[in-house]
Amino acid sequence: MNKLTSLKPFKQAIRASFFTASSARDIVFKEQAIIFLDDAGYIVKIIEHTQRDYSEIVAYLKAAGVLLEHPRSEYLLPGFIDLHIHAPQWPNLGKALDRPLDKWLQDYTFPLEAKYASASYARKVYSHLVKTLLAHGTTTAVYYSSIHHDASLELAKICLQQGQRALVGKVSMDNQDQCPDYYCETSVKEAVDACRKFIDALQKLPGNEKGRVLPVITPRFIPACTTELLVELGKLAREIGCHVQTHCSEGDWEHHYVLDRYGMTDTQALKYFGLLTPKTILAHSNLINEEDMGSIKQAGAGIAHCPLSNFYFANCVFPLRMALDKQLHVGLGTDISAGHSPSVFDACRHAITASKALNDGVDPELLAAQRGRPGSAITFKEAFWLATGGGGEVLSLPVGQLKEGFLFDALVIKTNCADSDIFINEGEDTSHDVLQKIIYNTRRSNISEVWVNGQRVMNS
Ligand code: GUN
Ligand code: FE
Repeated sequence: MNKLTSLKPFKQAIRASFFTASSARDIVFKEQAIIFLDDAGYIVKIIEHTQRDYSEIVAYLKAAGVLLEHPRSEYLLPGFIDLHIHAPQWPNLGKALDRPLDKWLQDYTFPLEAKYASASYARKVYSHLVKTLLAHGTTTAVYYSSIHHDASLELAKICLQQGQRALVGKVSMDNQDQCPDYYCETSVKEAVDACRKFIDALQKLPGNEKGRVLPVITPRFIPACTTELLVELGKLAREIGCHVQTHCSEGDWEHHYVLDRYGMTDTQALKYFGLLTPKTILAHSNLINEEDMGSIKQAGAGIAHCPLSNFYFANCVFPLRMALDKQLHVGLGTDISAGHSPSVFDACRHAITASKALNDGVDPELLAAQRGRPGSAITFKEAFWLATGGGGEVLSLPVGQLKEGFLFDALVIKTNCADSDIFINEGEDTSHDVLQKIIYNTRRSNISEVWVNGQRVMNS
């Protein structure tokens, strides 16, 4: 009992088997460990079942009524982090994927996003979106909203109400050459003032005193913004020190637009404008070169890899292996609705598939030796890291790992739920096999509980 009395004060103890990734290569499995949480939702201690006084501690916690126990068929994972979501595009999920990016934006996406001039429209859509993402295990969501103040604030309020950790950016876009007149901010001043006003309002939202929902400066992408706006948003990023997000070198059209306009890549232009910071999240970055990778690493910025959306809009596959080998910060994004799945589990699978497509190549008319880029494939363990610890590293937040000092954001995977595709072969499957099955075969119904900040926010 000495160990127990020497514990920092705790509010809740949870006994469960869990997996967590401590790096892209290192997976930790703990069997029936006890995780102690404090009032603020931090993990203050983890006790392993091999510890000498384990049984005594379990008995004590049970008697005190503070132990929540999970059977061996259930496994805890760190909550999943989705680094790139366009909240207003939720009604388009699963449709309108038949155009290249520039036409897709003009024909389907901007007309839909313009509807968020109505805060009640926003409330209806965003309530359903946040609930769905939580049910799929997204405990931290990084959102683009639309250009509208009220609707963007609605999204932040809904995340607070439903208990999701979130980063929300009111989109900035003022370039009348690239944006339709019905969906464009009308001056640099208006756009900068609106960005500042949104950040201020979000930080002051009742219930957000601890900053569970954070603001993000969000120049949509370089084509949608004037040079003056990019300069001003760079200054604002330095002044406020908050997160920044934008799209970077996503596909050929956008990449060449920026090369033509500035004679440099997106990464170099963002660096020039002061928008490449340790808190910048670059969506995609498929066409970045070695110099860009060096700049991203030097800045400590991160990449949101969106493999599913890339198959539709990027014209190529992100060189993930190279980015990991260079130790860039990388996590995953669904890129709703350019990606048609809301699940970060799916994003893991698509990241693996995309890396294999790059590795082997896809054109059967080419000789095998000419077809792909050998050495590009990633493993399921790396995909798990990207969805969890990698995302946390991109955001510079203590999330994505089940580890002392981290916030307790977690999923319970019930491997034997009614319609499970996961068959654990008792006595034959190793813990490595179990995690592999969880990554490849978890579906929404396997996710029986979702915890954010030490609070259970979903219990199916
Ligand atoms: N580039 C600029 N806006 C968007 C968007 O909404 N989705 C994607 N995938 N790329 C973009
Ligand atoms: Fe996007």
